[in-house]
Amino acid sequence: MNKEVNGAQGKREIKQGDIEEMIHKAFEAREKAYTPYSGFMVGAALRTADGNIYTGCNVENAAYAPTNCAERTAFFKAVSEGERHFSAIAVVGGSAGTKEGEFEYVTPCGVCRQVMAEFCAEDFLIVTAKHAGDYRSYSLKELLPEAFGPGDLNR
Ligand code: THU
Repeated sequence: MNKEVNGAQGKREIKQGDIEEMIHKAFEAREKAYTPYSGFMVGAALRTADGNIYTGCNVENAAYAPTNCAERTAFFKAVSEGERHFSAIAVVGGSAGTKEGEFEYVTPCGVCRQVMAEFCAEDFLIVTAKHAGDYRSYSLKELLPEAFGPGDLNR
């Protein structure tokens, strides 16, 4: 994990209201998902250490492999705007047509976890929600233990 660059980022307190706001924004972002192939629509809301929020949705492609997950869309939007310090991300997903109250928890894929490890400390918070009142949260370390990160290249 990127301890040296992002040391204290995840330690900043995140209130329950902040998490609920992120979940609402993730659901809004999910509406924009471009998923003609899987029909599985995902939304993410990434919170910076300063409290800014960047959203993302999954964007699929006819060649399949270029598909970008919602989480990475949010990260790449944020980083391309100059953000480098992040405290948490909320993720929501379900097939097109999933109704309120029918969502299941969605956790980030391995590629997205690796992108998180590039920018985030071990205590970066990953929230997966069925709705704003029903969510689970994990640290990045829990979802990607023993990660390979930027620090490993300097040994
Ligand atoms: N997907 C995400 O956007 N985030 C996840 O956490 C899991 C998977 C997308 C990729 C693809 O467009 C669709 O969901 C089905 O895998």
